[in-house]
Amino acid sequence: MKIVHTVKEVRETINNWKKEGKTIGLVPTMGYLHEGHQSLIKASVAGNDKTVVSVFVNPTQFGPNEDYASYPRDLKKDAALCEATGADLIFNPEPEEMYPDRFCSYVNITGLSDALCGKSRPIHFKGVCTVVSKLFNIVTPDRAYFGEKDAQQLAIIRRMVKDLNFPLEIVGCPIIREEDGLAKSSRNTYLNTEERKAALILSKSIFAGKEMVENGETDANAVVARMKEIINSEPLAVIDYVEMVNMDTMKNIDTIEGSVLCAIAVKIGKTRLIDNFISIENTPASTSGE
Ligand code: PAJ
Repeated sequence: MKIVHTVKEVRETINNWKKEGKTIGLVPTMGYLHEGHQSLIKASVAGNDKTVVSVFVNPTQFGPNEDYASYPRDLKKDAALCEATGADLIFNPEPEEMYPDRFCSYVNITGLSDALCGKSRPIHFKGVCTVVSKLFNIVTPDRAYFGEKDAQQLAIIRRMVKDLNFPLEIVGCPIIREEDGLAKSSRNTYLNTEERKAALILSKSIFAGKEMVENGETDANAVVARMKEIINSEPLAVIDYVEMVNMDTMKNIDTIEGSVLCAIAVKIGKTRLIDNFISIENTPASTSGE
């Protein structure tokens, strides 16, 4: 496995692979990799001849008061995980490589980016879409892998790929959790022992909401109210949002029907964590009349 830092080096490697007729999977990450990222890398290795993992803490998706500077970084450990999982190339550029002097071209997916996380992180998805577009243009993958952990990000990137005619397939991968239920996240390392225990309230409320929907509840507001009640029972938890939205529009819904995303963002101390569940309406099995 190679680690490269420049666009030129990625392009050279990719050109050679393409000449050999290899298919290419891309897993975009900000590093500090865990089993969640690893599940994406595994899916890419299984579905493509070559897998590229980008490790880049993207400055344009962090707001001025967010954790860009303190975001955890450990390239050595990341490289070991990538190598053990079967990745072929790590692209680890410096910020200046991705955003040279006088950089001023951004990709903004309107509407979808304003809901949920977009409300408290107004520039976030513009930064995500810009860096992901650049990675698509640099790596030119056949497939790119994203986690359902960041369900709004996944929906926005699917929309972007359709709208801007990127010739690749987006593959969504399920949320990987710790044994006790907490969704794996690089930001979990910010939590002290007490906060780590308190953080379980996110998955508790997600599982409770999911169960209500699975048991036939169709009133979105009733589910949201119950989930908020659960989260508010934890003194260290401060809700940013608990919302049920239509998967395609990210608009709030009153009645649970079709594809629905239930997403939450909760602050535990200084750490903002997200979690979600997706409910896809089952189409009734066709009845044969026999
Ligand atoms: P990052 O937070 O490092 O996540 C990289 C990818 O791993 C995302 O697609 C995310 O949804 C997925 N992921 C993280 N935790 C997961 C979990 N517990 N289960 C399944 N998948 C998980 O998301 C980003 O980086 C950035 O915004 C990026 C797309 C790289 C653009 O900078």
